[in-house]
This record gives sequence, C-alpha cells and structure tokens, in this order.
Amino acid sequence: MPGEPGLDPTLLRAAFGAFPTGVVAIAASVGGRAVGLAASSFTSVSLAPPLVSFSVATTSRTWPALRRAPRLGVTVLAGHHGAVARQLAGPAEGRFTGLPLTTTADGAITLDDGVAWFDTTIERAVAAGDHTLVLLRLHSAAHAADAAPLVFHRSGFRPAV
Ligand SMILES: Cc1cc2nc3c(=O)[nH]c(=O)nc-3n(C[C@H](O)[C@H](O)[C@H](O)COP(=O)(O)O)c2cc1C
Repeated sequence: MPGEPGLDPTLLRAAFGAFPTGVVAIAASVGGRAVGLAASSFTSVSLAPPLVSFSVATTSRTWPALRRAPRLGVTVLAGHHGAVARQLAGPAEGRFTGLPLTTTADGAITLDDGVAWFDTTIERAVAAGDHTLVLLRLHSAAHAADAAPLVFHRSGFRPAV
C-alpha cells in the first residue's frame, strides 16, 4: 500500500500507542446473540447534542452485525478489566462468557462493573482510511464516580491511579 515517506505502519502504530486512552466495550444483542468488541478509539465529541465517537477497522467482522442493532451499549472498562478487554477482542463466540451484563429492551448491552455507561444510536458512519469513524448519539449516560478506569498505553493495560 503506498504511503507517505517515513510513515510506515510499524512506526505509526508505535507513535499512536504513545497516546494513552481508556478502553470501552461496544455491544448489542443482534438476533438474540451478544455481539461487540473492545475499542480504545472511543472519545467524547459534543455535549449538545450529546455525541461520542469511535473508529472500527474496515476488516471488522463484528461491525456489520453491530451496525444493524437499534441501540449500542458503550461501557468504559474498569481498572480490573485488563483480561476482559482481551476477551472482548478475542474469538467472537466467547467474548461475553462469564461477564455480568445488562441488556436493555432495545438491545443495548453493557457490563455491570464498568466505570461509565452510555446507551447510543449510530448518528453517522464516515469512511476514514482503513477504519470507519462512527459518531454515536447518546440517549442515556451514567458513571460510577469512585471507580478507576482501565488505561491502555503502548499495547499494555494499567489501572489508573
Ligand atoms: C485494548 C484494545 C483496543 C481495541 N481498540 C479497537 C478499536 O478502537 N477499533 C477497532 O476496530 N478494533 C479495536 N480493537 C480490536 C477489536 O476489539 C477486535 O479484536 C477486532 O475488531 C477484531 O474482531 P472483529 O473482526 O470481530 O471486529 C481493540 C482491541 C483491544 C484489545
């Protein structure tokens, strides 16, 4: 794939990884089955209207199912969720095994022991290179004021202090 001189993917991945982020679970019930993934590309966008975003790889096999769901649940993972983040990025059939979940009447799925929760719909999906930039509109938001989030940095997890 042609690219800018000096911007080889390995360097870019390492440079992007210098930026610490949280990790969210984005999940919904589709056809009676929990589908979702872990995403570190989540960020807040707008208060009015309330919008957040994340980016999903064009190669994602989960996104085509997830984007059909009427509502998407977003959970900000907690400090103890390092293994859960890996599980949510692993083999699709086992992603939610053993996790305490809540499913709304509209099918949004959240993890009970997260640090913040959003009930969302897809506002817009924009092609962005090898990812799709997804803008989500919030319908509800909640958070656990004293819970520490999971922090993702240079391919590793650390609980925030
Ligand atoms: C900490 C972490 C953060 C991730 N962030 C993203 C992300 O922002 N966007 C994305 O498309 N995949 C991300 N992934 C990978 C997905 O969770 C998932 O493994 C990938 O989408 C492949 O599965 P799929 O084909 O079912 O979508 C992340 C994985 C981990 C462990």
